[in-house]
Amino acid sequence: MVNLEHYWMPYTDNPRFKAAPKMIVGAKDMHYTLADGRQVLDGLATLWCVNAGHCRPKIVEAIQKQAGQLDFASSFSTGHPLAFAVAERVAELAPEGLDHVFFTNSGSEAVDTVMKMAVAFHRIRGEGARTRFIGREKGYHGVNIGGMSVSGVPVNRKAYGGLLLGGTDHLRHTHDLARAFTRGCPATGAELADELEQRILPLHDASNIAAVIVEPVSGAGGVLVPPQGYLQKLRDICTKHGILLIFDEVICGFGRLGKPFASQYFGVTPDMITFAKGVTSGSVPLGGVIVKKDIYETFMKSAGAGVQFFHGYTYSGHPLACAAALGTLDTYAEEKLFDRPIELAKAFEEGVHSFKGSPHVIDCRNLGLIGAIELTPRLGAAGARGFEVFEKCWDKGVFVRPIGDNVAFCPPLICEKTHLDQMFGTVAEVLRTVS
Ligand SMILES: Cc1ncc(COP(=O)(O)O)c(C=O)c1O
Repeated sequence: MVNLEHYWMPYTDNPRFKAAPKMIVGAKDMHYTLADGRQVLDGLATLWCVNAGHCRPKIVEAIQKQAGQLDFASSFSTGHPLAFAVAERVAELAPEGLDHVFFTNSGSEAVDTVMKMAVAFHRIRGEGARTRFIGREKGYHGVNIGGMSVSGVPVNRKAYGGLLLGGTDHLRHTHDLARAFTRGCPATGAELADELEQRILPLHDASNIAAVIVEPVSGAGGVLVPPQGYLQKLRDICTKHGILLIFDEVICGFGRLGKPFASQYFGVTPDMITFAKGVTSGSVPLGGVIVKKDIYETFMKSAGAGVQFFHGYTYSGHPLACAAALGTLDTYAEEKLFDRPIELAKAFEEGVHSFKGSPHVIDCRNLGLIGAIELTPRLGAAGARGFEVFEKCWDKGVFVRPIGDNVAFCPPLICEKTHLDQMFGTVAEVLRTVS
């Protein structure tokens, strides 16, 4: 019997878990194995990351082999071939023009890294006043100080008062129940991007703004799909005012929308992309930032001898993470997994929207292989209904994630229609039992 006392679990109601642990002891392909032997279908690629499915052979083999060959080498003034190989592979997948890759160990680190890069980039070019960042309400950019500050999920900010960076502001979110039950991108709402130019830039002055950061489709804020034309508008405004546009693709990257990155799906190219999760299919922590060539070149040409960017993590480009990434990228390519969201698009969309008219459901949203249903909150107990759905589904062998009173779906790209049927069928069954 495991002693549950000493582990302070992240983002978890600790006593509640410890009273009735959902303990996972194994995983394969689409399923977890629980301590009591039961199988649970993974309907959220665990935390939006296991895009290739669990314990896939190429990934496991790559990690095992690497562990015996080179356990660790630092990327501070020494190097090892795998980090260069992964950077090349990621650059090949990235939108045209974004071709230099900096490694971190997580999405949160990627976001704080990209913020430091943006400020330093402007400074090198003589625009040192550009230090402010514009995020978006309901955005999620991880939990480090920078990422938390540009994020817009209130519960993630509430307790941290003065730790939040002062030089940030937020665009309005794009969620609007007037557009409820839209399939894919809503046809209206692109004008929400105009707020950047009409309200935020005049307030702070464009010359003080380093970058705008958004998730192309926001995930952890409740799966919010951007209105048609919205991202292009942000691109145009940023270009016009010399502001960098950052797409946080920690969830959208590596095939979630049927392209390597959401940028390619939407046909909108940012200046910098943050990634993590899917790059190793969750197997070993790895994240990073992809930047346009001229951003990299600007740093390389910066005056002075020595280090061009005083930033990096001990484990940036860790050999095991890089081996895992190569195994993962091979798996994606060999199994053509980035095509799966296109092949499954209709079934997934039908599944998500089958909840229209179900008890408590006030919205259904989807794009690629990511979606959510939104439930009416209970009076005075926001989030309780969503959590009840999660727990009851788990008991019936399906993992879906509650985000407040949203229930999110984001299955591994290897999923089949039968898995979707089981996932949506179980949620439908559970909704009929939830008060
Ligand atoms: C868009 C986005 N950015 C950043 C992060 C933070 O990543 P991590 O949890 O790896 O630090 C997440 C995590 O869900 C995310 O969804």
